[in-house]
Amino acid sequence: MKQGEDKQGPSEEAVLAALSTVKDPELHRDIVSLGMIRDLRICGGNVAFKFVLTTPACPVRNELQRLAEEAVRTLPGVESVNVEMGAEVRAHSARGGGPRPVEGVRNIIAIASNKGGVGKSTVAANLAVALAKHGARVGLLDADLTGPNIPTMFGLGQGHQAEVGLSPVERYGVKVASIGFVLKPGLAVIWRGPMIGSGVRQLLHELPWAEGGELDYLIIDLPPGTSDAPMSMAQEAPIAGAVIVTTPQSVSLEDATKAVTMFEKMNVPIFGVIENMSYFLCPHCGERTEIFGHGGAREAAEELGLDFLGEIPLDAQVRSGGDDGVPIVERDPDSPLAQVFTAIAERIAARASVQRFLPDRQAAVR
Ligand SMILES: Nc1ncnc2c1ncn2[C@@H]1O[C@H](COP(=O)(O)OP(=O)(O)OP(=O)(O)O)[C@@H](O)[C@H]1O
Ligand SMILES: [Mg+2]
Repeated sequence: MKQGEDKQGPSEEAVLAALSTVKDPELHRDIVSLGMIRDLRICGGNVAFKFVLTTPACPVRNELQRLAEEAVRTLPGVESVNVEMGAEVRAHSARGGGPRPVEGVRNIIAIASNKGGVGKSTVAANLAVALAKHGARVGLLDADLTGPNIPTMFGLGQGHQAEVGLSPVERYGVKVASIGFVLKPGLAVIWRGPMIGSGVRQLLHELPWAEGGELDYLIIDLPPGTSDAPMSMAQEAPIAGAVIVTTPQSVSLEDATKAVTMFEKMNVPIFGVIENMSYFLCPHCGERTEIFGHGGAREAAEELGLDFLGEIPLDAQVRSGGDDGVPIVERDPDSPLAQVFTAIAERIAARASVQRFLPDRQAAVR
């Protein structure tokens, strides 16, 4: 360090000017004006700073780090560049007069589709675990009050909280809550419309989601359809964005379109469409079979002006992960299959950042 002090290093202005040539590809603005550069320290030719991303699940994290390092390294007088990468998820700002925010929850992401059995719960479980593995603080709310599947998918016993009352349980780094925790196995509850509304309200607003620290993301696994639960959810919570899950069949796509229409009517932004059970890769010969056709969801998304977030193959490990209570992203995070879910989770986190960040024009280097 002493050696550096004697040398003429770059000025702060020069470093910031170099860094402001780097643009965030999602937000289409430079990283300095976005407030991502913090604690800039220049000691002779040694430059150090923190690079604070808007999500720990940033899909272009390494690329942005490389570009920032390169931009500074090429300045005259620079000997070394030390970048400390970090992330700070910003809270979704509800529009005035909208639903009451959920205390301690920064971004609510709803997983939906109009059709049953397309893989919403499977996708919700794996996305939640993928975001948690990136270091985000994540909750998962099972809003399927009449057929809760999340307890099984996380290996958390049905009815284990029947005596003590419902509260979120941490599993695989995710805070999970489901009405299934308080229902004894095999016990069905008949919910009428208004009860669903109040059930959803309680799950959102009366559970201690933020205990131990604010949640960056609360993933909500919605039941199928455009009935009471999704509607109540959109009324009760400021949803940062909805993700539509579909399979490639045309009937399923038609249904997905209905879900899109519902969210649009309720002023809930849609982050995009996922095609689940998109193709089958034979585990023996590797041959790809497109059982339900393929690519329909991408085309439909394009037609509807929505982002296509990715395709998930039909794979026995995805199903067994759900049945055995260990989502594939937890069981085998480095497998190509888990990577598919992780890449989609990163895209969704990026959408949430864009959604939240763009109206905020205030950015300062601290
Ligand atoms: N990509 C996949 N590969 C293999 N099996 C899958 C895949 N996605 C989901 N499944 C299986 O399909 C079944 C239905 O999935 P899931 O319960 O996630 O759907 P859902 O849309 O939440 O259903 P519901 O509408 O009843 O809530 C489950 O048995 C699940 O394990
Ligand atoms: Mg489900």
